[in-house]
Amino acid sequence: MLHVVILGFGNIGSNLCNALYNSSQVSVIQIFSRNLITLPNNLKSISVTSNISEIKEADVYIIAIPDDAIADFSATLPFNDKLVVHTSGSVPMQAIDEKNRKGVFYPLQTFTKNNLVDFSEIPICIEAEEQTDLKLLKKLGESISKNVTEVSSEDRKTLHLAAVFVNNFVNHMYHISEDILKESNLDFKLLKPLIAETANKIKGLSPEQAQTGPAKRNDLKTIENHLHLLKDSPYKEVYKQMTEAIKKEYLE
Ligand SMILES: NC(=O)c1ccc[n+]([C@@H]2O[C@H](COP(=O)([O-])OP(=O)(O)OC[C@H]3O[C@@H](n4cnc5c(N)ncnc54)[C@H](OP(=O)(O)O)[C@@H]3O)[C@@H](O)[C@H]2O)c1
Repeated sequence: MLHVVILGFGNIGSNLCNALYNSSQVSVIQIFSRNLITLPNNLKSISVTSNISEIKEADVYIIAIPDDAIADFSATLPFNDKLVVHTSGSVPMQAIDEKNRKGVFYPLQTFTKNNLVDFSEIPICIEAEEQTDLKLLKKLGESISKNVTEVSSEDRKTLHLAAVFVNNFVNHMYHISEDILKESNLDFKLLKPLIAETANKIKGLSPEQAQTGPAKRNDLKTIENHLHLLKDSPYKEVYKQMTEAIKKEYLE
């Protein structure tokens, strides 16, 4: 049985805690949160502390706090020579303080606190300095996911950059669309089947094969009409840049 302490109970901390808690090979023995938190009923048996000196003895400590806080926070941990990992896509493993053994446990997915996800298909990118720690992280990852891979800090940075395009930027496009529809009192719900099919399509086609739309077809009148509809909207520039990028890819 692997004993785990989770440090931070935000989007990823709460999701990881839930997944690991439900694994028969892992025992989540404690959650540290700098502010007091109330656990959901199904996790009530886990001990919680906001006092860093009360952190319990464990096999792995998972830091699940914002990127910029990881290094300083890891230096405040009151123990040595334990395996301490973070969950970030972009922070190097070396950011973790020297006094402990370092590692990374990065689930490549988007997480929101009150939206629990199924970890079984989520790629978990692991890294450690020592082989024994790598093995331990593999075991931890495989207790919740079928897809655990060793990824270096350098490659993880590239993966994270690509992930920002497919998730953060695409989601911002949803937000723009919702805003545009609101102006005309139209319901964003109408776009949901299109969003689902866009994601579904790339299971069988490459993104290049899946591309459609006025920019790819070079339907200049339709593009002009859209720009006219956008009037002075701040989204006009985004539309122009995306249209130019698609045209460059397919028409030049
Ligand atoms: N969210 C995602 O989709 C996602 C996906 C993959 C990887 N990650 C990585 O996971 C890590 C956490 O992201 P998140 O989205 O879960 O963040 P988050 O929801 O903002 O959660 C942050 C947690 O860290 C605590 N915290 C903030 N600053 C702290 C500090 N200086 N010292 C101690 N605790 C602090 C917060 O406590 P309070 O509530 O008291 O402020 C909260 O419990 C990041 O490294 C991120 O890159 C996130």
